[in-house]
Amino acid sequence: MSKAHPVQVIAVSGGKGGVGKSNVSVNLGIALAQKGRRVVLLDADLGLANIDVLLGLTANHNLADVLAGECDIRDVLVDGPGGIKIVPASSGTQKMTQLSAMEHAGLINAFSELGDQIDVLIVDTAAGISESVVSFLRASQELLLVVCDEPTSITDAYALIKLMNRDYGVNRFRILANQVRTEQEGRHLFNKLTRVTERFLDVALQYTGMVPYDEAVKKAVQRQRAVLDAYPRAKASLAIRALADQVDNWPLPSSPRGHLEFFVERLVEA
Ligand SMILES: Nc1ncnc2c1ncn2[C@@H]1O[C@H](COP(=O)(O)OP(=O)(O)OP(=O)(O)O)[C@@H](O)[C@H]1O
Ligand SMILES: [Mg+2]
Repeated sequence: MSKAHPVQVIAVSGGKGGVGKSNVSVNLGIALAQKGRRVVLLDADLGLANIDVLLGLTANHNLADVLAGECDIRDVLVDGPGGIKIVPASSGTQKMTQLSAMEHAGLINAFSELGDQIDVLIVDTAAGISESVVSFLRASQELLLVVCDEPTSITDAYALIKLMNRDYGVNRFRILANQVRTEQEGRHLFNKLTRVTERFLDVALQYTGMVPYDEAVKKAVQRQRAVLDAYPRAKASLAIRALADQVDNWPLPSSPRGHLEFFVERLVEA
């Protein structure tokens, strides 16, 4: 096994669909890469709005091939914008909780090889609180929940927090307000969410700021580009860079919990 090298594993989730999880994942990844971190983005959503679709990338292999022993994890990595590497979505990520012992060992091996070459693993999860989503969340050290100012976003984020807390004892969540108009609106949204969690749950929510509603994000999506790459000076891009500055200051995991192997082990233990 390789030498100790802590890898920060950040799951981006939020419960509700379409709140901006994939855009936050991709652009946060690019912003961290710009700060010199080696970033891999794991697309854990097999849905329609995959990261490869979002960025117009073509994948030749995927995790299912690695699990089948047909290729190496390095063959699966796709070069994304800004120097980030992407593990494309596949049925492999969906069935992480139902692997055979052989697949299990193969996967841990595959990821531990990768461990020396990355500093941050960002996991873009699907909407909802399926078994698959939950397995990624419980394996990650940092949970970044994207919420926007809609009642369903708040109730879905609440449901996710409640489930993770009740069933897995997770009590720390980072909250990012997306698609808000002002700083104040972001704060306000965060306060709304904490009001319900404080009443019913014993959890600590940490506000990580906001990304404004910005047409540049929509234009970038239409052009299959990342906003940080296509419109680096857009308001949304500035906000994402501020988020990356914060993430850069999050405490690094202390080993061995921080090892990538550990993430995979937790991921596959049913
Ligand atoms: N800050 C923003 N400003 C404007 N539009 C945004 C912003 N963030 C996201 N969007 C819009 O929301 C859409 C959905 O974003 P995204 O695909 O990142 O959401 P998601 O949460 O990953 O969705 P899914 O649950 O389907 O995976 C984008 O295509 C874009 O049009
Ligand atoms: Mg998505």
